Formats: sequence, structure tokens, C-alpha cells
Amino acid sequence: MTAIIPAAGLGTRFLPLTRAVPKEMLPIGSKPALQVIVDESLEAGCDDVLVIISHAKELVRKYFSEDPQYAKRIRWVYQEEQHGLGHAVLQCASAIEQSEQSNNRTFLILLGDAVISGCAASKEMVALSRANGGASVIGCEHVPPEKVSRYGILKVEGGRIADLVEKPSIEEAPSDLAIAGRYLLDAKIFDFLKTQTPGKGGEIQLTDAIRRMVKEAGVTLLPYAYPGKRHDIGNPQGYYETLKAFVEG
Ligand code: G1P
Repeated sequence: MTAIIPAAGLGTRFLPLTRAVPKEMLPIGSKPALQVIVDESLEAGCDDVLVIISHAKELVRKYFSEDPQYAKRIRWVYQEEQHGLGHAVLQCASAIEQSEQSNNRTFLILLGDAVISGCAASKEMVALSRANGGASVIGCEHVPPEKVSRYGILKVEGGRIADLVEKPSIEEAPSDLAIAGRYLLDAKIFDFLKTQTPGKGGEIQLTDAIRRMVKEAGVTLLPYAYPGKRHDIGNPQGYYETLKAFVEG
């Protein structure tokens, strides 16, 4: 199975530090956060990891290239212009479509600024997919009402995801269940990303393409609510909370 880890973001919520250090290189114990995320994908059974960076982040590539254990499994994809998460994932289309020919129809996405403590999120999502005939799965968590407008929000009906709305207002939000950094998707998503028009914030939204995949192609999409906790390392407060969860236990 292939994993995609988008890590080309500019790190604006963690300036000025990110002028010198990509946020993905911030330490969790003695490992960079990105290594924790790559390890999560390997633990889930991935043997092919596509990390999306920009040329401003060569430090990340250098770090992993110096360790043969990682160097043989990671492929590097470049995204120089930021047009949203959907656009970032689309940069991996040909790489996924090549490896997909051999067997797997699904692949994982692990956002490079989200680390999850207290459970092996990707591994559990792979197991849930396998137990449901290769269904797609979205990792999610409940959020307080005042925060729904920061996330993709899910509408669940009969145990399946029936609808997804990117960053809705409280009034528009179909629930308090937020998309939280992990996706296991059918490779059909690329057919929808290729024709996806800009959505919220003028960006190509992954959420919008998944919504069309569910509604137009009838792909089964299941929620996986983490028993653990998702942390956002992309800002100082979130990073502090991450350290407390991982280092202090
Ligand atoms: C992205 C997704 C959003 C999701 C969030 C956290 O938003 O577009 O649906 O809820 O990640 O996983 P971003 O934080 O990049 O604005």
C-alpha cells in the first residue's frame, strides 16, 4: 500500500521559527514529527511513502535520505505552488496510478502536521477497510461547536458518511464530527481531483472531491473516530500539547 504525506505547507502559523526549520522537523522526543508520521504509515503496512515537499524544504529530504531504512521506501514529490490539499494530493496521481496497477485500489493520506497519540490510527483504518470489502475510511474526532468552521465536517447516516462539508459555519454544519488528518481512499479519488474546481478559500479542496466520489461513484466511506487524540503541530500551542501527550505520556 502507498501512503501520501503532504508536507509542503509554508508553516505560517509557526513563524518566525519556520523561516529556518520546517514544522515537520520539530522534535517529538528525539524524532522529527514527520518521522513519527512516516513510522505510523509503515506500521500500517505501507511499503511506499510519497512525501510532498517544496524546494524550500530540502532539509526534510536530506534527513530521511541519510537513513537507508527510510531512503528505500520514500519517494519525493514537489509542490511549489500552494493551491490547497486537493491540489497537493493530485501531484501524486501518476505515482499512485502506477503502483495501483499491481494490486491495491486504496491508499493512505497522513497530513504532515497531524500526529495522533493513544492509538495506531492508520493501522486501525486499514483493518476497518479490509473488514468492509476495501471501503474508504476517514479518521475523525468530535470538536466543540465553535471550532466546526476550521474543519471538514461529516454527516453520518447508518454508519456511513453520507456527506462532507469543508469548513462550514455553525449553522451549516451537519454535525460536530471533524475530518482529522488521516484518510484511506479509493484511487478513484484522482478522477474527481482532476476535475475539481476551487472551493472554500479559492483552494482545490480534498473534501469536495471526496464528496463527489461518494455521491457520484457511490464509494462506501466509513468514519473512524479515534480512541486516541489528534494533535496539530503547526502552531506553538498545538505543538506544546503534542509534546505533553507523547513525551510525558
Ligand atoms: C484540512 C482539511 C480539513 C480537515 C483538516 C484537519 O484543512 O481541508 O477538511 O478537517 O485539514 O485534518 P486545513 O487544516 O489544511 O485547513
